[in-house]
Amino acid sequence: MGTAHSHSNFLGEMNGIPNVTLNNGLEMPMIGMGTWHHGPKEEIMDGLKFAMRNGYRHIDGAHIYLNETEVGKVYAELLGSGEVKREDLFIVSKLWCTHHKREHVEPALRLTLKRLNLDYLDMYYVHHPASFHFSGEDVNFPEDESGELLHSEDDYVETWKGMEDLVAKGLVKAIGVCNFNSLQMKRLLENCKIKPAALQIESNPRFANDILRRFCEKHGILMEAYSPFGSPDLPWGVKMPHILEDETLKGVAAKHGRSTAQIALKWQLQRGVAVCAKSIIEAELLDNLKCVDIQLDDEDMAAIKSMDKNLRKIDPVKKLKNGEYVLRNKNNKYYSFDYVETEECLK
Ligand SMILES: NC(=O)c1ccc[n+]([C@@H]2O[C@H](COP(=O)([O-])OP(=O)(O)OC[C@H]3O[C@@H](n4cnc5c(N)ncnc54)[C@H](OP(=O)(O)O)[C@@H]3O)[C@@H](O)[C@H]2O)c1
Repeated sequence: MGTAHSHSNFLGEMNGIPNVTLNNGLEMPMIGMGTWHHGPKEEIMDGLKFAMRNGYRHIDGAHIYLNETEVGKVYAELLGSGEVKREDLFIVSKLWCTHHKREHVEPALRLTLKRLNLDYLDMYYVHHPASFHFSGEDVNFPEDESGELLHSEDDYVETWKGMEDLVAKGLVKAIGVCNFNSLQMKRLLENCKIKPAALQIESNPRFANDILRRFCEKHGILMEAYSPFGSPDLPWGVKMPHILEDETLKGVAAKHGRSTAQIALKWQLQRGVAVCAKSIIEAELLDNLKCVDIQLDDEDMAAIKSMDKNLRKIDPVKKLKNGEYVLRNKNNKYYSFDYVETEECLK
């Protein structure tokens, strides 16, 4: 793998995106580009190329976005041409649920690295606390004969040991988790050698997830908000009003002469939360980076806080043979979203 490089303010010089120092000393740009895309893969390749050429350095990906080969082609092109340097990038991927046994973690990471044309990641997340049966490299949703998803009870504490192995081998610089609730975080903290550097969870004005934010703050773990706009282009799940069209958010945006997207992002940065936002549209990608210099005041912060309905959008579904949709992870031993967070976890 490459040698450990300092990430000191490389973005600060380029476009003002602040870095956060993670609990292991690694610096991470607070704004990332999401690559979970529901359209043609060429769109995400073109969007990513444009983003990287225009200042994005933190790229959020995952095995299950099923586009790591294409994303890897973009990395190869831009690193090969010398337009960007590997040490200036902060590249993220996520371990899928089928690879939760300790011995499956490294092969999963190595496959991701191969597809991405890289020899290390900056951050590797456990994608979900829930695990599925392992039936081979790319069998992401193993099923029995009747089409039922084959859940597994692999304990995420064991998975985490596999993640720690990767750090020891120098294959990843930081490790974190996604979609864990506070009970699971506490149990992980009690049973780890390396503390998670970050917790990536859904967060946006409709679902602030503020108790987990405070939990992270208390434990020195960075919270990163996924779906910071509420994932309006998601083709499945319950349709919800478009956050970026919300009248309260529009009011704050008008006051600052900025877009609602910029306000939604800057609100997160001001509460100490990093963001990964997805777009494939050039104007939007540029717009999202420009949120940094906004200064929201107490009134603005309170207005956005008032939008919180504690309404989660992202809870993966599965289509049954009879056409009915069910929550995919609901029956898993480690399903995390049915737990109602209270301030208890902050004690
Ligand atoms: N760890 C996890 O379990 C997890 C789960 C979900 C997501 N993620 C990560 O988080 C990333 C972001 O979340 P997401 O993709 O769900 O959704 P998101 O970032 O909340 O929303 C993306 C959509 O917002 C709209 N948008 C973006 N910038 C805009 C702008 N400046 N103005 C107007 N509209 C704008 C676009 O929608 P339209 O095209 O409809 O206008 C875009 O497709 C993902 O790509 C992925 O990397 C992680």
